[in-house]
Amino acid sequence: MRGSASGELIETVLDQTDIVVLIGEYVRLVKKGQRYTGLCPFHQERTPSFTVSPEKQFFYCFGCGTGGDALKFIMLRENLTFPEALRKLAERAGVKIPEVNLDPGAQLRRREQEDAWEINKTAAAFYASQLKEKVGEPARLYLEKRGITAEVASKFGLGYAPSQKDTLLRLLKERKISGEEALRYGLAMRLERGELIDRFRGRLIFPITDARGRVVGFGGRALDDVAQPKYLNSPETPYFNKREFLYALHQARDAIRSAGAAVIVEGYLDAITAHQFGFCNVVASLGTSLTREQARLLLRCTGTVLIAYDNDAAGTAATLRGLDLLQETGLKIRVMGVPRGKDPDEFLRTAGPEAWEVAVAGAVPLVEFKVLHFAGKGLDTAAAKMAVLQAIIPNLALLPTIAEREEGIRTVVQLTGLSWDTVRSELDRFIEKGQKNWLNNSKSAKNKHNIENTADARKKAEAGIIKLLLDRPDLAGHVDSAGGTELFVDERHRQIYLKIQGIIAGRALRLPALFSRLDETEKETVVSLLSQEACERPESVLKDYIGLIQARKRREQRQELLVALKAAEAAGDNLRTEQLLQNLRSLTERKGGTNDGRDAGHRD
Ligand code: CTP
Ligand code: MN
Repeated sequence: MRGSASGELIETVLDQTDIVVLIGEYVRLVKKGQRYTGLCPFHQERTPSFTVSPEKQFFYCFGCGTGGDALKFIMLRENLTFPEALRKLAERAGVKIPEVNLDPGAQLRRREQEDAWEINKTAAAFYASQLKEKVGEPARLYLEKRGITAEVASKFGLGYAPSQKDTLLRLLKERKISGEEALRYGLAMRLERGELIDRFRGRLIFPITDARGRVVGFGGRALDDVAQPKYLNSPETPYFNKREFLYALHQARDAIRSAGAAVIVEGYLDAITAHQFGFCNVVASLGTSLTREQARLLLRCTGTVLIAYDNDAAGTAATLRGLDLLQETGLKIRVMGVPRGKDPDEFLRTAGPEAWEVAVAGAVPLVEFKVLHFAGKGLDTAAAKMAVLQAIIPNLALLPTIAEREEGIRTVVQLTGLSWDTVRSELDRFIEKGQKNWLNNSKSAKNKHNIENTADARKKAEAGIIKLLLDRPDLAGHVDSAGGTELFVDERHRQIYLKIQGIIAGRALRLPALFSRLDETEKETVVSLLSQEACERPESVLKDYIGLIQARKRREQRQELLVALKAAEAAGDNLRTEQLLQNLRSLTERKGGTNDGRDAGHRD
């Protein structure tokens, strides 16, 4: 269903897209050998069976069987048609799409989007020109008062919207752009009597651009503290949703890449001032709490984000939620200490660039910031401590390395006085059970745990053998000579073993080939086995498993023989009794030693 788009175009787009980077914006990926793994975005799961191969530029979920290339991923994830997905990836990669490749609906949307960029560009140029004219003097004075240089004003394309009701509308009319269009793209508004007037009047204008510098909307600041509202922004339209953009990202992108980190501030002027002081890796959220889309934009440039909010704002519930969200996308988050009551703009102007650098260097990891934040509210009671723990465990679980987790645990232990064991075991429980089940610490969860604990050791050993074969197909010979299918009493395990055997060629095991042969329940088993850590000493563990199974089998046979023996004695069948005794003796000899099979030294 690849429509009429040319193969060449598709190839170019796929060539220009790194599937690991792309999927990394949606799924937390961890490198495992040649591949990346993570939780599948297409079905609910707690252990990762979703894999991305950088080499093949392909994704595949062993759990739900979903797989494909970057285009397929975007289609599924964003619910797009193929042409839409192609356009999205092309835009992202900066590849130009010839119009003929789009369906009519997409062509219309594309045209309107381009009209939106065009009209915004026209308006931005107009506002910027007005800032330099006589009429723009109040705005120039305001910028001067705020300490913004002309150079920086021009770097950000700042402008001035004159206070008359329709200066922009008249200019647009000259350019054959109607008032209705200006309204549709957020540059005009309709009065009650039906008249259209400029949306922005008598305001300092901040053009908002996308990461590639196209103007998508505007912020307009009043020039005094009387006019309301202080900021008037472009309305939300299909062409402008402020949750999808970061102010100053276009100007900051290169600096973010070279600094290896981005700093997020709240206000337009905070970002501009930072750039003026030479801190060009600073972007501003647009007056909303942070979103996944914004996290994704940053992930294209960096893995580390510092938050420089006014100290009061940084601790609000909405900000904390935004930070958790950023962390969930895989960003490392640190929080800068900006003095209470000061925003970064004032902080930089009063304390200077050195103080900024100190604040950057002293930024604390999100976990520490959150604990400190809660500690500030009092941590005297056990209940309060547990509440902090509950808020912080998901953040700990998201830390990608063991070292970082341990550091996080240490922070929590030091700041709360909770014991290492408490924190550690809550974290383990969270990782094991997932967020939902962890919070509702219900009976059923406990029961399930017990059942798992008492699960038949033999079945575990069977599963263990399959797991070993999945990781180390070259061990198949050992399993075969130890009894092969006879080792497996569980029918599902036996089937999986047979299918593995059927496709092991030489020493390699091709997973796709195996998966195409498994039924749904078998797949489930294999996926959960694949998602477990590979064991460290496979040969000796395999021996243990086989030993355990064989010991169990002997015990069963012995029981059967004893039952038969009793029956033969009772029946007075001497010959049969003699035979059975003989069998029993040879069974005991084969077993060798005193081990009666209850403990074959197997490890869990
Ligand atoms: N904001 C907004 N609409 C408002 C108030 C704020 O869109 N009515 C957004 C703007 O993006 C603004 C940011 O929230 O830049 C932070 O708001 P605030 O701290 O109030 O303003 P500052 O950016 O500090 O602006 P100034 O220094 O000029 O007061
Ligand atoms: Mn401010």
